[in-house]
Amino acid sequence: MKRALRDGYELNDDSLRIDREAVHRYSSEESYWAKGRPRAVQDELIENAARVVGLHEGHQVGFSRTLSDGHAQSYLADVYVLDEHRGLGLGVELVRFSVDEGPFVKTKWFLHTADAHDLYRRFGFAEPSDRALER
Ligand SMILES: CC(C)(COP(=O)(O)OP(=O)(O)OC[C@H]1O[C@@H](n2cnc3c(N)ncnc32)[C@H](O)[C@@H]1OP(=O)(O)O)[C@@H](O)C(=O)NCCC(=O)NCCS
Repeated sequence: MKRALRDGYELNDDSLRIDREAVHRYSSEESYWAKGRPRAVQDELIENAARVVGLHEGHQVGFSRTLSDGHAQSYLADVYVLDEHRGLGLGVELVRFSVDEGPFVKTKWFLHTADAHDLYRRFGFAEPSDRALER
């Protein structure tokens, strides 16, 4: 599925449209969570994802990756918008499309973030209860 945004931006979950080199460049060089991630690992993460979303404007300027069992639980990862395209509301639309407009909208969602809590709070994400553990 895809959704056109203003100013020529488009969200698209066709994995064949993902620019893997661009995702690898951002993830391995600029992100704070996957510095140094090898290209082969990044490719495998995309192949094994339940859904990947690209934000395009001619070329790819944003991305998200979702892990899901399809019915009960989903995890949102690798969300980014390239620096020069930030502050235009694209990150909000990327998360909306990834979570609320995808096939896993009814599952329980999880994610980790260093500092973008308020972005995700808009979509109902909140600090977990004391029932949640992580390893
Ligand atoms: C986070 C990110 C995807 C947001 O993209 P964006 O296109 O700039 O976001 P938007 O323009 O849609 O605005 C996001 C909203 O969330 C808010 N926000 C909260 N925490 C934020 C953060 N750490 N970074 C950016 N926005 C944040 C913004 O203030 C904004 O709210 P507003 O509309 O009331 O001003 C982008 O800044 C990014 O790629 N950052 C680096 C990678 C990253 O941290 N990814 C998230 C990993 S969990």
